Amino acid sequence: MPQQVRAVVAKAKGEPVSLEIIEIPDPGPGEAVVQIQACGVCHTDLHYREGAINDDFPFLLGHEAAGIVESVGPDVSEIAPGDFVILNWRAVCGECRSCRRGRPQYCFATHNATQKMTLNGQPLSPALGIGAFAEKTLVAAGQATKVNPAASPEAAGLLGCGVMAGLGAAIYTGEVGRGDSVAVFGCGGVGNAAIMGSRLAGAAKIIAVDLDAGKLEQAKGFGATHTVLASEVDPVTAIQELTDGNGADVCIEAVGNPKVLEQAFYARDLAGTVVQVGVPNPEMRIDLPMIDFFGRGGQLKPSWYGDCLPSRDFPMLIDLYLQGRLDLDRFVSETIALEEVEDAFHRMKRGEVLRSVVVMDQAVAG
Ligand SMILES: NC(=O)c1ccc[n+]([C@@H]2O[C@H](COP(=O)([O-])OP(=O)(O)OC[C@H]3O[C@@H](n4cnc5c(N)ncnc54)[C@H](O)[C@@H]3O)[C@@H](O)[C@H]2O)c1
Ligand SMILES: [Zn+2]
Ligand SMILES: [Zn+2]
Repeated sequence: MPQQVRAVVAKAKGEPVSLEIIEIPDPGPGEAVVQIQACGVCHTDLHYREGAINDDFPFLLGHEAAGIVESVGPDVSEIAPGDFVILNWRAVCGECRSCRRGRPQYCFATHNATQKMTLNGQPLSPALGIGAFAEKTLVAAGQATKVNPAASPEAAGLLGCGVMAGLGAAIYTGEVGRGDSVAVFGCGGVGNAAIMGSRLAGAAKIIAVDLDAGKLEQAKGFGATHTVLASEVDPVTAIQELTDGNGADVCIEAVGNPKVLEQAFYARDLAGTVVQVGVPNPEMRIDLPMIDFFGRGGQLKPSWYGDCLPSRDFPMLIDLYLQGRLDLDRFVSETIALEEVEDAFHRMKRGEVLRSVVVMDQAVAG
């Protein structure tokens, strides 16, 4: 029987989100219904409600989530009711040209649920194919990755997007290795995760760059060994000075700003790597002298979702978390009720939080 649950919906471009009762169908073949326990508020949710992604309103927001599988449809074998799962937006197809070449992390045809959730009969567009600011959501079974249930849902859910994107930007895309020097531009949730990933990978020097002194202080807690306040000094010069005049082996852009990408390009050592994880808008352009591109060698690499494979990475990272080697709790600035997502967007815009996390049974603050 279809179920009715409370959920946060963006009905029109730029309008505040609202709490609605939506309808969820029973899971069909290859689908699962997941009871959401916690879901982080990501910049991408705000991008959706501002119409910056596309015009497919109404959107069911939320996509950094963990919860319990409630029911599965036919032909689902990898998860079962009662499993603790993290939701992902890379349920790989196994059949596209990238998967067939052994590169599933770039899968070009990832799975989402086939059926639609609805609001008053109108089909909803779930953010990143997930839609988890809801008591329950319908996903493709491959979008739910089983992990150790000893982890707290607030922390685990964050691996579903921004934190995984940052960790993977360092570990997989940037291939940071033991003894490397790394500079991370932008110390929000994503940048701090890149700092944490660099430490995990054995980087010797981790330079945090931000315009905000408070953000730099926080970055030290994630593993930054040096900080550069880009509002006061030229970050390229400062990074060169911190690396014997050479530049960093890996520079990670976690802002989404062409000026910052240029700084990352020039703050890099010869044959070094630039990773772009910040998301640009369609108007942004980069203009570099071709001789510098050639002459400096190395690699420029965009990073989607940290080149992660959820089935490989989520269980492993949760195990590290449970061993005390990956402090995911540090990203949780506050927990909020489902009713408070719009307020959390405002705090995010003002740069006051790394992550606000909706906890489903939490009451609205008084
Ligand atoms: N590639 C992916 O798969 C992926 C996934 C999730 C998020 N993202 C993107 O990553 C980016 C960062 O996300 P976030 O949640 O950490 O955002 P955030 O807003 O929390 O953090 C951005 C940080 O950059 C700093 N900053 C702004 N301008 C700067 C400048 N000129 N120089 C240095 N620092 C500057 C801000 O002070 C802030 O601390 C966003 O563009 C987001 O859309 C990408
Ligand atoms: Zn594929
Ligand atoms: Zn996200």
